[in-house]
Amino acid sequence: MNKKETFQLEFEEHVKEGLIAFPKFLSSKYIYDDRGDELFQQIMALPEYYLTEAEFNIIDTHKENLREIFSTHGAFDLIELGAGDGKKTKVLLRELVENQTDFTYIPIDISQHAIEELTDSLTTILPNLEVQGEQGTYFKVLERLATYNKRPKVIIVLGSNIGNLQHPKAIEFLKKLKEVMSTKDYLFMGFDQKKDPLTIQNAYADSQGVTQEFNRNLLHRINKEMEADFPVHQFEHWESYDPESGTAKSYLIATEACEVELKKLNLKVNFKKWETIHCEISQKYDDDIVEWLAKESGLEIANIFEDDQKLFKDYLFNTKD
Ligand SMILES: C[S@@+](CC[C@H](N)C(=O)[O-])C[C@H]1O[C@@H](n2cnc3c(N)ncnc32)[C@H](O)[C@@H]1O
Repeated sequence: MNKKETFQLEFEEHVKEGLIAFPKFLSSKYIYDDRGDELFQQIMALPEYYLTEAEFNIIDTHKENLREIFSTHGAFDLIELGAGDGKKTKVLLRELVENQTDFTYIPIDISQHAIEELTDSLTTILPNLEVQGEQGTYFKVLERLATYNKRPKVIIVLGSNIGNLQHPKAIEFLKKLKEVMSTKDYLFMGFDQKKDPLTIQNAYADSQGVTQEFNRNLLHRINKEMEADFPVHQFEHWESYDPESGTAKSYLIATEACEVELKKLNLKVNFKKWETIHCEISQKYDDDIVEWLAKESGLEIANIFEDDQKLFKDYLFNTKD
């Protein structure tokens, strides 16, 4: 079975499991096809979605310092997990290329489309950059990362992607990263911070309805790829942020009762009026939580970078053993 067929099978198994479950769930990682990538780019441009601007500010302000830290041990591999369109990474890549840094950029994303677009655009804007894009999920790729041990690694995970994982999964993820890291390696990771709950709520419930379209893309994708008949317009997006746990949760809610047939899966699913599908969590953090995550996974925080408006932080981790 090739990579594409394996991915499709996993997607189908996930959909079956999530729609049979009570309460129902579907993972946001499957939103990202061509249309999902495009909608996420629109989200990043929304005035409410402060995350991109804030992390852009951090990277732009500290790019020289980051270049010096990342090249401490000479030539290295810059591995980015969940790279997306690389909007913020490009600032760092330009800084590295313009200063003749010896490195290879390895962007990894679940979306084949995102990897192709990113690689194409980098060939145009930074022709001297060595890029080796790869399609894959975080956990699958981590297994392969162990073989990238020939030279020091800098692993970057931007956009608070880790926030899509509940704490136990996040610890598992960080532990796996630690396992593939040597004492010369760095991990640079974005963690969106706890703040005014309304600012967070609005970031995921924009007034233009782009986030709703983004979440609905999961149903469009299932309709297309699994011969299903979700009445997509009858599913509304709902965002709920709990300031106590720091967890923002997004749902698709059936506004009418319906029966959905997924022919390819030989499955019929019933929805009651107002029944939910839980799609995504976006966890928010503070220094104590990140320190706890680091401790649980055996990583050390070497430095913390914050944006001018104090909304977002990138943490630099290393390992002592
Ligand atoms: C919220 S976007 C952030 C993109 C980029 N890191 C940024 O900060 O702009 C998440 C990206 O991670 C990818 N992604 C989501 N879940 C993934 C997974 N489990 N494995 C690999 N990539 C994943 C998506 O395709 C998407 O491009």
